[in-house]
Amino acid sequence: MSHEEFPTENPAVVTCGLPYANGDLHVGHLRTYVGGDAFTRALRKLGQRTAFVSGSDMHGTPVAVNAWEEGVTPEEFALRHHEKYEETFPKFDIEFDHYGHTAEDTNVELTQRFVRELDEKGYVYEREIEVAWDPEEGQALPDRYVEGTCPYCGEHARGDECDEGCGRHLEPGEIEDPTSVITGNPAEYRTREHKFLRLSEFQDYLGEFIDRMEGTANAKNQPREWIEGELQDWCITRDMDWGIDYPGAEDLVLYVWVDAPIEYVSSTKQYTERVGSETFDWEQAWQESGELVHVIGRDIIQHHTVFWPAMLRGVEYQEPRSVMASGFVNLDGKGFSTSRNRAVWVDDYLDEGFDPDLYRYYITTGTGFQQDIDFSWEKFAERVNGELVGTLGNFLYRSLLFAHRNYGGTPEGEVSEEVRERIEGAMDEFREGVNDYSVRAVGQSAVKLAGFGNEYIQRHEPWNAEDPERAAVIRDCVQLSKAVAVLAEPIMPGMAERLWDQLDEKGSVHETALDGALDAPPTEFDAPDEPFEHIDEERVAELNEKLEAQIAAAGESEATDADGSEDARTDSEALADERIGFEAFQDLDVRVGEVVSAEGIDGADDLARLEVDLGLETRQIVAGIKQLHDLDGLAGERVVVLANIERTELFGVESNGMVLAAGDEADLLTTHSDSPPGTKIR
Ligand code: 2FM
Ligand code: ZN
Repeated sequence: MSHEEFPTENPAVVTCGLPYANGDLHVGHLRTYVGGDAFTRALRKLGQRTAFVSGSDMHGTPVAVNAWEEGVTPEEFALRHHEKYEETFPKFDIEFDHYGHTAEDTNVELTQRFVRELDEKGYVYEREIEVAWDPEEGQALPDRYVEGTCPYCGEHARGDECDEGCGRHLEPGEIEDPTSVITGNPAEYRTREHKFLRLSEFQDYLGEFIDRMEGTANAKNQPREWIEGELQDWCITRDMDWGIDYPGAEDLVLYVWVDAPIEYVSSTKQYTERVGSETFDWEQAWQESGELVHVIGRDIIQHHTVFWPAMLRGVEYQEPRSVMASGFVNLDGKGFSTSRNRAVWVDDYLDEGFDPDLYRYYITTGTGFQQDIDFSWEKFAERVNGELVGTLGNFLYRSLLFAHRNYGGTPEGEVSEEVRERIEGAMDEFREGVNDYSVRAVGQSAVKLAGFGNEYIQRHEPWNAEDPERAAVIRDCVQLSKAVAVLAEPIMPGMAERLWDQLDEKGSVHETALDGALDAPPTEFDAPDEPFEHIDEERVAELNEKLEAQIAAAGESEATDADGSEDARTDSEALADERIGFEAFQDLDVRVGEVVSAEGIDGADDLARLEVDLGLETRQIVAGIKQLHDLDGLAGERVVVLANIERTELFGVESNGMVLAAGDEADLLTTHSDSPPGTKIR
């Protein structure tokens, strides 16, 4: 079953992964929230009724361990962070319709209702398992209270997640060589009764679900390995006090990953309670006919494509329509590190006086959503100066200034055929962007249109023309400016609002549908301001100095990160010291190729078999991209191939060449222009 394109008649719910209420936010954390906000705004531009919800994740050991380190109760600790997040998101124009938290009554009640129903339907059973135990403290060590070795990949891991290695979810008792985080002592294992969700019952369903599910390629492909393998039942309780009680078993609380996604539903319910079910009906959305879109980080794909859909299915709720999983954000080539203060904190960004739109634009349009993206002040300044000041700002400012000075606003007349068609083309790109889950394409539709505007004004030189030609060109430019405001609103809502006011438009650009891009602009408006400021080199140097000083002040501390995840995103490999001669390079026969077909290799987790046209012949090549790319969409793509690498056999399939790719996400190398297959790379 394929889904109807957006917009549909159904209510949509866009959710963002709940941040653990356990630390300060840096700009890297904002990626999914900006992405979710931009996607919601874009859906609304298409006329899709949409609720945008999230909340703080209050429970679990990520909060309890940090609160314990600070010597305060988990409740006090989590509420403090929750209040801070609630106040911070709107400062970046991330405007949730409801932002709640998991410890609120609505979520406690709904979670217990879900669990009771799953229990009554026979999806839950009790089993004795071995849990890690600190003998000195006399307490159980769930999840982040215990560290050790991942049984799957051998890397250092936390109790419920292999955060430095393969990224797998770990069940209680799975971690090897366990050590207590509280005392540093080796942990023992003790037998305890726990509740399990019969995930295995959902195996067939999940296999069908994942075929229907839309979203980014990583979210659609990665879960296949888990779903097609043997699905282990899932332990849904923990031995601790902080959490939602398992109904009827007072000594157990629910695993945080049970009540966290249910907050998506609770938050929608609270939104309905505020606006009324005629405006948005949470029950219709979640139980009858909703378009449920989850925007998350790529480290929690398994939770959203296996555990959560199984729970939803168990209580007969709607299934997710799509999962958009973002790549990570790095800082100047390395991971952000909370403990080493190697981060650009959101408060510092705002205190520097930077417009939130600049970061929103940078983070949404720099790479595809599922790719990692690097942030540095240099790159930030370069893109702001080039794309926002140079292209977008330049076009808007010169067009509107010319219009105001010569005509007091919009000259009379109709938009030309050429410009109308170009705007319609941008609107199509925007619509396709939404339906491809590409916030990048949505953002690019606006900036590319401004680029066209610059070229158009340059081509027609209105300053050298006489009326009525001059008036006609400027009329077109004002229309293009208005269209830019409408198209850019999801990504840069602040700039769009200022531009709207500048044009003296009535109503709100946020509520203007996409088609409004072609409505006539007002006849009179004032002189414009430049929409964005140039960031000069001295400013970049100053920002870098501050960042370096901040990192140096934090010293060489090896403390554990608040969310523990950043340091794991390993530094970039150092550049090689050893030089090679040009001759050595010439030994490599590197060619442009075109993918003819791509399919997964049965039984191999990561491998795909590609047929690649190298001009003179078509080669069969095996590449480790099965989970990282949408194989169906690869045919026709240009790739770069090392053609004279030794033939090899992988999983019984001969590989005659090597497709070049960058980084852990296997970002495929391609050509800038359209050199034909077979072209040698020199
Ligand atoms: O990984 C995390 O940061 C979790 N707090 C995300 C929860 S998302 C959800 F399902 F609610
Ligand atoms: Zn592992």
